[in-house]
Amino acid sequence: MSEREYILRVKDLVIEFKTEKGIIRAVDGVSFDVRKGEPLGIVGESGCGKSVTSLSILRLIPEPPGKIASGSIELDGVDMVQLSKQEVRQMRGKTASMIFQEPMTALNPVYTVGNQMCEVIRVHQDVSKKEALQIAEDMLKTVDIESPEKRLKQYPHELSGGMRQRVMIAMALSCNPKLLIADEPTTALDVTVQAQVMEEIERIQKEREMGLILITHDLGVIAEACERVIVMYCGKIVEVAPTEELFRKPKHPYTKGLLASIPKVREEKLETLPTIEGMVPDLAELPVGCRFADRCPKVQKRCRLEEPRLDVVGTDREVSCFYPD
Ligand SMILES: Nc1ncnc2c1ncn2[C@@H]1O[C@H](COP(=O)(O)OP(=O)(O)OP(=O)(O)O)[C@@H](O)[C@H]1O
Ligand code: SF4
Ligand SMILES: [Mg+2]
Repeated sequence: MSEREYILRVKDLVIEFKTEKGIIRAVDGVSFDVRKGEPLGIVGESGCGKSVTSLSILRLIPEPPGKIASGSIELDGVDMVQLSKQEVRQMRGKTASMIFQEPMTALNPVYTVGNQMCEVIRVHQDVSKKEALQIAEDMLKTVDIESPEKRLKQYPHELSGGMRQRVMIAMALSCNPKLLIADEPTTALDVTVQAQVMEEIERIQKEREMGLILITHDLGVIAEACERVIVMYCGKIVEVAPTEELFRKPKHPYTKGLLASIPKVREEKLETLPTIEGMVPDLAELPVGCRFADRCPKVQKRCRLEEPRLDVVGTDREVSCFYPD
């Protein structure tokens, strides 16, 4: 595939944090691509580096204590790692934008919804305040907000959680980004609202043929919304596969464990990722060899001596294990 067909190419990304225990590698040599218009899912247990990876794309990691130690992040052909703060701001919102779990972190409580949306729109588009308000109103309609004129005049605290999340999505989409990064976008919402907001994201992604990176612990949502899935474990990618194949035939023992522990009858929505027995190793005291070894049912001598690499299997899968299925 030619360079042009990718909206994002992450290569050998290493992200470090200074902590009390010393320098830890939250992301350790991660490489992946997102094709134009492709919805990609990222799953993995808490602390495996999903948020840090996704934040780094728009250079949103707190520096310090964090730091992109090495690697490249080509967003629409531009290496984000090499850009100045000013140049990074030009890419945010326009080329890619991000929505978070808690909309209040992105919304400013002291400005009206209309004012905030206009500000975002006018950073990238040469339009008058009035024109910007019109764009904002249209965007609120796109995310199915009723009486948008009224909402534009309100402050974030006057809106329900679901409404705030829709406003944040509308804001993220207002400059027509080619890539949307959604980190647990519905976790903070009521279960009924979760489904609606997710449907909205899916619909807009398809309509606009926008690239999407979706991070969620809800494997059902991944199955529905994503073409491909990345499975992370302890700062590394352990498996990449088309969604359907990953669910049907997981190759990495960790992925297998995750899928096996989803209850067959889902009486209520899972609030966290299914759990696998054993503990994730501490990033400050990583074992030699495979990071999953202590929890792996297939562990062998070699696994404790050498670290497996992420290798291509077949045409479109990758797995990092000496003894994959
Ligand atoms: N500001 C920070 N300072 C120090 N360490 C950090 C900081 N932010 C993240 N880390 C470390 O980076 C690692 C990855 O964190 P990250 O937030 O990416 O996990 P995650 O996969 O998004 O987890 P979750 O599912 O809980 O959101 C963690 O081990 C965490 O301790
Ligand atoms: S490399 Fe060994 S320990 Fe690691 S996942 Fe594969 S079989 Fe298990
Ligand atoms: Mg996270």
